[in-house]
Amino acid sequence: MLNNGPITAASLISSDPDPFKWRMGVKPLELANWLLLDEQRSNELEEIGQLIDRYRDNIIYCEPSATQACEELAAEVLEHLRHLPGLASIDIDKRPASLIEAIRRIVQEDVCVLEKRPSGWTMTACAVAIPTQWDVASKFGKTLDTIHEPVPRYDSDLSQTMSTFFDRLRPEKPVWRANRTLTDDPSLRLEPKRRHQPMRDDVTVNNVADQVWLRVEYQTLRRLARSDAIIFTIRILRQTIRSVADHPEALGELLRSVSRLPADVRDYKDSTARHAELIKEWALSTGTITKQSLQKH
Ligand code: HEM
Repeated sequence: MLNNGPITAASLISSDPDPFKWRMGVKPLELANWLLLDEQRSNELEEIGQLIDRYRDNIIYCEPSATQACEELAAEVLEHLRHLPGLASIDIDKRPASLIEAIRRIVQEDVCVLEKRPSGWTMTACAVAIPTQWDVASKFGKTLDTIHEPVPRYDSDLSQTMSTFFDRLRPEKPVWRANRTLTDDPSLRLEPKRRHQPMRDDVTVNNVADQVWLRVEYQTLRRLARSDAIIFTIRILRQTIRSVADHPEALGELLRSVSRLPADVRDYKDSTARHAELIKEWALSTGTITKQSLQKH
């Protein structure tokens, strides 16, 4: 999928296990696809800069132990960006107080640094300006298990597997995975309350295709060779349901997966589950998908 054309939100839709189970869903990452560049770069970076100025204490975090990892990360980021069109002489701005902030100001990705501690893999630095409905500051300095506390079934489906996976991740074998959300808010930064807030009451079956966005978090994981830290990047990709519907197979897969979510996960992904109902009604009424295709495995 990543080798065939541009990486878009719709291109990253894949099927969930049936019956439902959270899965790691990691795939090998080609380093060329680590940090993505698109035509939105300068607009997005301007907005990111403003968000950092306004909400710095809720976006930027760095413990002293993460300094070496941030220096190694900065070098990797520059090496990556300098190979991209128009960025040959890009550099880190020395003005921001922390290196992780300076890094965030030149990439379209949110970035987390994890270090192994006796209590588990811990987020010791981050620059997360555009979260998808999660409370960033509450995760500062926390382990993967604590970070994922709000996620139902995390303990049974993921905790142990993830811990082993992080221990074994090798610098030469980076990976990527994707998470998806349906939202009626096209903003880059989504506040946590949006997860449960009632849908805007003006979203109907008639306008859902243009008023609801598929928002995919394209996530990558890389272990750094010298500092031994793990870098987690999150790139937000968004497209309206109308443009997702240009790929009926992908839309069908998305709707099938959301309709199979068990009650506790459906509750956690509240707005996604409710938007999916309207999208299904729209897609069936326009013939974009058929009832049979929704039952397919
Ligand atoms: C292979 C690695 C990972 C897997 C399999 C994983 C899995 C998941 C899953 C299944 C969810 C629920 C997603 C949903 O809404 O559909 C989730 C949410 C989340 N993940 Fe991860 N995750 C991984 C790595 C990370 C890392 C490294 C961080 C941060 C350092 C992180 C931070 C979060 C946060 C903040 C949430 C939202 C929690 C909330 O609702 O407060 N994840 N993750």
